[in-house]
Amino acid sequence: MFGLPRSIRDLDLDGKRVFIRVDFNVPLKDGVVRDDTRVVEALPTLHLARERGARLVLASHLGKAKGTKDPKYSLAPVARTLEARLGTPVAFAPDCVGPEAETAVAALAPRGVLVLENLRFHAGEEKNDPAFCRQLAALADVYVNDAFGTAHRAHASTAGMAALFPRDRRGIGLLMEKELKALSKVATDIDRPFAAILGGAKILGKIAALKTLVEKADIILVGGGMANHFVAALGLPVGKSLLETEGVPVARQILDRCKERGVALVLPSDFVVAPSLEKAADASTVKTVPMNAIPLNAAAFDIGEKTIEMFRRMTKDARTIFWNGPMGVFETKPFDKGTFAVAKMLAESSAFTVVGGGESVEAVKEAGLAAKISHVSTGGGASLDFVAGEPLPAVEALR
Ligand code: 3PG
Repeated sequence: MFGLPRSIRDLDLDGKRVFIRVDFNVPLKDGVVRDDTRVVEALPTLHLARERGARLVLASHLGKAKGTKDPKYSLAPVARTLEARLGTPVAFAPDCVGPEAETAVAALAPRGVLVLENLRFHAGEEKNDPAFCRQLAALADVYVNDAFGTAHRAHASTAGMAALFPRDRRGIGLLMEKELKALSKVATDIDRPFAAILGGAKILGKIAALKTLVEKADIILVGGGMANHFVAALGLPVGKSLLETEGVPVARQILDRCKERGVALVLPSDFVVAPSLEKAADASTVKTVPMNAIPLNAAAFDIGEKTIEMFRRMTKDARTIFWNGPMGVFETKPFDKGTFAVAKMLAESSAFTVVGGGESVEAVKEAGLAAKISHVSTGGGASLDFVAGEPLPAVEALR
């Protein structure tokens, strides 16, 4: 295992103002938190900080606020959820820097908890702007990063501000530590054979990580929107399926590299297709077709039964399995079958299994299988980058 940054356990927190970067980027619907997994996962760090007498200043982003104050991305509902989970009052500051934040921090007693408003209401957050880093750092004596889900972002709160604290006043929280330890079994200390199952719609970003995964996995199974790019790279039609054209040449390079390295890259042998998601409500429009026969007027929305069977066969002897990204549009029936089958496959496997990525995790939970997975990560992009061997800016900033 690589050396981890200093743990919160080894920091002096007593009476200190402790800035804790959490990842409270949770799904909201009509101002209500739909899934509070990320809040719950932050609790061990918050309990520890409170037990040690810290004054807790919690900061997070939520959604793609892009530097403007957009009420739909306010962290206020999340502060209420945290209050219920912690069982202690949680104060809320309507800004993350400036007089309102400073006053709220000054009012904190030891063991008190404050949630700051969305960091991304300021453009300086994503720009990692030095002046914004200084404003944030001025709020605290100690800096702790527990936001594993955002560790792949070099933003002010995740990277820039860390340098403004001396080494003995900065470190990682318990969730970050748990994630890095568990994921290192898929990133460095790998029990082989190692199978990676990748899917999902965020294609271009993932194809970059896929390139590095080719160098470490023994077998790569591809489904979801990502598979269309490989089908297109083979010169086969994908009809109206989701496709980012810049991704196709990258898929071609990956196919070539897999051949060179002798890595098996397994594509679906069949797809479930329909003219559109709307038209799929009429079951007669939904068909299963071989991978080389996606009709021009239809789109692939799931992997087919034959593919599910093949994926099961091909991962049967794996000792480590990493899964990131759904196999289809699993929120719309009947296109949920592939994704749930993969969730079940992992749950039944005796391998060390890791699931990362909002939607794959959602599928595992919806199927009631989370307890049967070795590690369910709170990070999507972060877990993929880490497993692929990319440095995580948030971790590097603390070294
Ligand atoms: C996530 O949900 O993956 C993290 O919170 C990072 O969010 P982002 O993709 O908006 O940076």
